[in-house]
Amino acid sequence: MSATDWDEIVQEHRPILLLKPDVLVFYPTAGDPSTEKQILSDSKTFFVNAVAHELFSPLSAVMGLLELAKEGDRVQENLLKMERHLNRMQRILEQLILLSKIEQDNYQPFVRKVNLEQVLGDVVHEYEQRLAQKAISLALDKVNVMIKADEEALKIVLRNLISNALKYSKRAGHVEIKRTGDLLCIRDEGLGIPEQELKNVTARFYRAKNVRSISGSGLGLAIVKHILRRLNITWAIHSQLNAGTTVYLELVGVEE
Ligand SMILES: Nc1ncnc2c1ncn2[C@@H]1O[C@H](COP(=O)(O)OP(=O)(O)O)[C@@H](O)[C@H]1O
Ligand SMILES: [Mg+2]
Repeated sequence: MSATDWDEIVQEHRPILLLKPDVLVFYPTAGDPSTEKQILSDSKTFFVNAVAHELFSPLSAVMGLLELAKEGDRVQENLLKMERHLNRMQRILEQLILLSKIEQDNYQPFVRKVNLEQVLGDVVHEYEQRLAQKAISLALDKVNVMIKADEEALKIVLRNLISNALKYSKRAGHVEIKRTGDLLCIRDEGLGIPEQELKNVTARFYRAKNVRSISGSGLGLAIVKHILRRLNITWAIHSQLNAGTTVYLELVGVEE
């Protein structure tokens, strides 16, 4: 999808739609207040459910590992595993705290100038181990700009998108992150999303059939959608089964 295609999408299409069978676009509009209220109240129930669901499995894992460690069974190894689960719980809680902030009526994003390269560098760094484990090459290209963004919210969005690109890449695959004009593109050459399921992937807990053997909660893109809607940011997913996925994110206030 070129930048010109993108302009056409933004001008011609309204809130959430499938542009072509393989491109799903989210274009936030002010929207009808009663619909917005409904979305907010739905999302409250959603996130309460999500907390229970998402925190339960790492918590049970930590409890199990703690028992083993108490008995002196492979203490060092079990402590490292516990650390991983606790880190995951911490990230989930950070997301949830931000989300509950975003849901408040008087929420004002903390928008300021952010160095995109630095933010991307920080987020990519968090996944270094995973990159190495899967022998994935990651190209971080031409993102040396300042943008206007809420850094905390942006990081959550990027973490979700980048972790998906890595998770759904094949071993020794390639992931590319680059900027084209006012768009940030995160592209992988991984499993892709079956055409008929693309429209569902941002629904809470939805996971496409072709990835069910890989672990996940189906919450990441629902969170991304929610945050970007509140921040009024347009985005799109372009995907082809077994060929790869690209997520496009509108960058606001780009300064070279
Ligand atoms: N980069 C990607 N490549 C292939 N499929 C993807 C990608 N990103 C998202 N998906 C699909 O969208 C679904 C929802 O994504 P997400 O909400 O992040 O949940 P999770 O990653 O926990 O399954 C995934 O289960 C997968 O089917
Ligand atoms: Mg995910």
